[in-house]
Amino acid sequence: MNRTTAGGELTNSFKKYKLNMSNQSRIIGAGHYVPEKVVTNQDLEKLMNTTDEWIVERTGIHQRRYFEEGKDTTASMGTEAAKRAIQHAGIDKNEIELIVFATLSPDYYFPGCGVLLQKELELPHIAALDVRNQCSGFIYGLSVADQFIKTGMYKTVLVVGSETQSNFVEYSDRHRHIAVIFGDGAGAIVMQRSEEKNKGILSTHLYSDGSMAEELFCPHPGTRLKTRITHEMIDDGSLLAHMNGNLVFKHAVTRFEECITTALEKNNYTINELDLLIPHQANLRIADFITRKFKLPVEKVFNNIQKYGNTTAASIPIALSEAWAEGRVKENTLLCMAAFGSGFTWASALVRM
Ligand code: UT7
Repeated sequence: MNRTTAGGELTNSFKKYKLNMSNQSRIIGAGHYVPEKVVTNQDLEKLMNTTDEWIVERTGIHQRRYFEEGKDTTASMGTEAAKRAIQHAGIDKNEIELIVFATLSPDYYFPGCGVLLQKELELPHIAALDVRNQCSGFIYGLSVADQFIKTGMYKTVLVVGSETQSNFVEYSDRHRHIAVIFGDGAGAIVMQRSEEKNKGILSTHLYSDGSMAEELFCPHPGTRLKTRITHEMIDDGSLLAHMNGNLVFKHAVTRFEECITTALEKNNYTINELDLLIPHQANLRIADFITRKFKLPVEKVFNNIQKYGNTTAASIPIALSEAWAEGRVKENTLLCMAAFGSGFTWASALVRM
């Protein structure tokens, strides 16, 4: 195939899409769902050697939500959040052409949660894609949706982050540094093509460093170390998530700062022009560190980790949905969302609402 032919075919195949470089994607609605069960630090004190004082001082968390067995699953919570986002956006659910579902705690090892949501929402046979980027999963998913909308392939995309993490932490002294942090919940957004200039997703910035993969990871069920789960693996804790908390913390503060700065510089904005920062809710100390580093007034940074803990891929869409409901996200708000986590992966998105 010569280059002229290839170029010609490419042009023709794109004709069926509305390829228009002025396409923008906008976030037109957000919703969230958290399970009813509230678990306080005092509740955890009864299960392991920890204290409310330690948890609040080291993480800022006072309580988190845990899924209700027989009622909530990662897919079902994502579906509920999606319904609320669709209602908020004021669209018909049948307008959705692509589901992007971010989670590290899927209902099944396979298939992913995207198809389960497609079924539960009773959507037609549209595309469903799962994203496995842990704490950065939502922004990675948003970026994927943005690209599909900008090329013209899809007009309306649903992006979901949902996690059921209380199911795989161990309530024991050996796992207490992880058990106290994580919570369950789901958030979702609807993104749609718009031709309004300088509005919508201005840019997204995605990064990874796989040399740090084993600093925050869950080795099993996996194929790298051993192929079969054994009783010894249950006993020695190797089925649990592992986290080098200090190292993760140090990398997080640096990477958050870098990717937020990049997002602003890329769009010729200064930090003072930013209206709202929604950082992934990893640890309140990390968010406070960034707030001080950028000399941001506290009201320009949205935090809700105090009541939900770290909900990984769900944390940013839950926060966005709450911030919107509280009137802190409005038309024209310049919003930056940034995340860092397992992989390591980190990401940011700058949005003019
Ligand atoms: O969202 C994904 C990305 N994840 C993160 O961003 C998490 C980043 N890391 C962190 O948030 C923090 O490292 C943690 C909250 C996980 C831990 O806080 P830390 O200040 O780094 O504590 P540490 O691991 O250095 O442990 C300090 C002490 C240790 O005791 P010794 O060795 O000093 O006697 C731990 O055993 O605190 C102990 N400890 C606890 N004590 C009471 C660890 N967990 C607990 C606990 N309750 N739950």
